[in-house]
Amino acid sequence: MKKIFAANWKLFKSPQETREFFSQWKEAFNGGKNEIVFFPSAISIEAASTSIQEMHAKYELNFGVQNAFTQAQGAFTGENSAAVVKGLGGKYILIGHSERRQIFGEKNDFLAEKVAFTQSLDLVPMLCVGETLQEREANKIFEVLKTQLADGLKKAEKNKTLAIAYEPVWAIGTGKVATPEQVQQTHQDVFEILKQLGFSAPILYGGSVKPDNAAGLIRIPHVDGFLVGGASLEIASFKKICESI
Ligand code: PGA
Repeated sequence: MKKIFAANWKLFKSPQETREFFSQWKEAFNGGKNEIVFFPSAISIEAASTSIQEMHAKYELNFGVQNAFTQAQGAFTGENSAAVVKGLGGKYILIGHSERRQIFGEKNDFLAEKVAFTQSLDLVPMLCVGETLQEREANKIFEVLKTQLADGLKKAEKNKTLAIAYEPVWAIGTGKVATPEQVQQTHQDVFEILKQLGFSAPILYGGSVKPDNAAGLIRIPHVDGFLVGGASLEIASFKKICESI
């Protein structure tokens, strides 16, 4: 099965830096059988869209935004429109990243609306789930994942495409990557929970993925790709991750 390698650029890279990245990416990465996805910041989305379209890549190359509202337009100051992303040729909407949950207080019910709205536009929601260190230490991982998945997907359509990113909160941006055993266990759990809920979706791992740990992690059962933050900002490191299998 193909793997999905996704870059989460968070609040980095201006439109100009985005164009520069893609002009070099074109030379650096020659493709393969896997899918590569970029999530630039919303202000750089048009630069990404144009660069990606002009590239005419011979492999699956897609983009999306890191967050979008539950409606296409209206009086929602500061929000992003998934419909605009679709108009620009985007494919994915990242939903419920732990930074959205923790810094911006987004709750599962709100995320469920975003998942449903994304699917209604025939875009692909990439729902992020993951436990905090406190929840892990209290042995609540399964419970937390089950709630985040059941609640986040309660309005999702089973016959529409969906992707999941499992990102343990304590591993994001900390350099503390989950061990292969931990990744294997939680990806198995996410797979089982999705099955119980009637969904089937690729499950990406995220949290301090780097060129030196990617090859080990990508071979774990039910790891269908990565969501990469810090190491996706530089061409050399993201390229190595995309070539880890
Ligand atoms: P990181 O971020 O790779 O820098 O840990 C991952 C993410 O937040 O998606």
